[in-house]
Amino acid sequence: MNKNLITLIIVIVSIVLLSLTVVQFYWVKNAISVERTNFENKVNEAVSNVIFKLEKIETFSNLQKTMNSQARVASFFSSMDSINRDLYDEMLAIKRPEDIEKLIRKSFMATEVFSEMARKDKPFDIETILNKVLIDSLLNDELRQKGIKTKFEYGVYSSEKNRMIIEKTGQYQAQLLKNGFVFTLYPNEFLANPNYLMIFFPFEIRFLLKEMASIILISLILIIILMMLFTYVIKIIVWQKKLSEMKNDFINNMTHEIKTPISTISLACEALSDSSVKRNEMLSENYIKVINDENKRLADITEKILQAATFEQGELILKKEVLNIEDVINNVINNIGIQVEVKDGKIIRDFRASKTTIIGDKMHLTNVISNLVDNANKYSPRKPVITIAIENYTEGIKISIEDNGIGINKENQKKIFDKLYRVPTGNIHDVKGFGLGLSYVKAIIEKHSGKITVESDLKKGSTFRIYLPFSM
Ligand SMILES: Nc1ncnc2c1ncn2[C@@H]1O[C@H](COP(=O)(O)OP(=O)(O)O)[C@@H](O)[C@H]1O
Ligand SMILES: [Mg+2]
Repeated sequence: MNKNLITLIIVIVSIVLLSLTVVQFYWVKNAISVERTNFENKVNEAVSNVIFKLEKIETFSNLQKTMNSQARVASFFSSMDSINRDLYDEMLAIKRPEDIEKLIRKSFMATEVFSEMARKDKPFDIETILNKVLIDSLLNDELRQKGIKTKFEYGVYSSEKNRMIIEKTGQYQAQLLKNGFVFTLYPNEFLANPNYLMIFFPFEIRFLLKEMASIILISLILIIILMMLFTYVIKIIVWQKKLSEMKNDFINNMTHEIKTPISTISLACEALSDSSVKRNEMLSENYIKVINDENKRLADITEKILQAATFEQGELILKKEVLNIEDVINNVINNIGIQVEVKDGKIIRDFRASKTTIIGDKMHLTNVISNLVDNANKYSPRKPVITIAIENYTEGIKISIEDNGIGINKENQKKIFDKLYRVPTGNIHDVKGFGLGLSYVKAIIEKHSGKITVESDLKKGSTFRIYLPFSM
């Protein structure tokens, strides 16, 4: 896929995702405002019910009072009658002057009692009429019935007195006055200065959010899943693109690698068919050697590629045997040593392990060491100094291969074990390779239940360490 196309797709999908998130956000916001209106309606209904009930109670108690006072008037008149009658009888029966004084005192007392009995009700005072506990329990009941189960604060505000005359706790007075729901108390009475019932919900937002938790949570989860999938897909696309680039590189390298020996061989064959060469035994022998060598190179390349293909299908079967790791390493040094010496370099042996035998596949482990030493040599442009150390650790043998070459940066250290990966060098292709070696090495070591690590500093050198347990 074209790089520009990928970028375009990423941009478009990002925009779509972003818009989707924004739309979702507005949708949730909208839903919250609908929920809020709903909440307000419920509060309106509940509080209106409470005010209606309060009025009913009020009217009822007024009625009772009236009834009481009617009864009182009746008894008042009858007692007044009887007292008057008594006084009249007593007046008729006066015989002595002291009796007059007694009578006056009695009549005075009767007047006192009458006026006491006839005393009118106290003037209308809302503070005594409204009952804090009653309002609280009515509000509680009504709100609960409407499903509003969150803490509320209320107060009764008198516009005449210009202050709160009843408060539930008094904690939220400012909010009550500023943000509270306001209702007129006794809306049917034409009072000059009405009283207001105010109600405020300190945790209203929290309550609304809780009511909508499922919606919010679901949309959040969907968005997160979408974003995760998107990043995953992008990662895969980028990786695929890289892989296809690496495969291209691989094919280019391979064709190049194969073409050289093929053309050398064909040149040598041509030369051999020449009659003058045929006659010269030494020369023809030489050409035959060239053909042989190049043929071996071709076989090597084919073998490497075949190895990689074999892994792909997971058909790697080890031939286990008891082997001495020192022997394996010495064998590799014997084969590669010359290539290092040609570059004026050297290989240092640092064998410190007391137990050097393990169970493993000799051929594959030889390939592993050979690959690592070959890399150490290939990627050390000047006078390679390669140190191969063997040590024991509790469960096995540790082999380190250290070089003073070009090194690998942190980012690439993670990738060099991937199949076909080669550290990019721009357009300079001075070191030949297919990027298959280290992935093979890793696979073989892991087949032996071992581990491989790399430690490297750019321009200073690299150390590859292999941990091989005594038995797999
Ligand atoms: N000793 C080393 N020093 C520096 N770079 C190395 C070393 N060994 C491996 N690399 C880097 O890791 C890459 C992968 O190595 P490998 O799988 O052996 O492939 P190849 O050697 O065919 O390129 C190499 O292309 C090289 O960039
Ligand atoms: Mg290699």
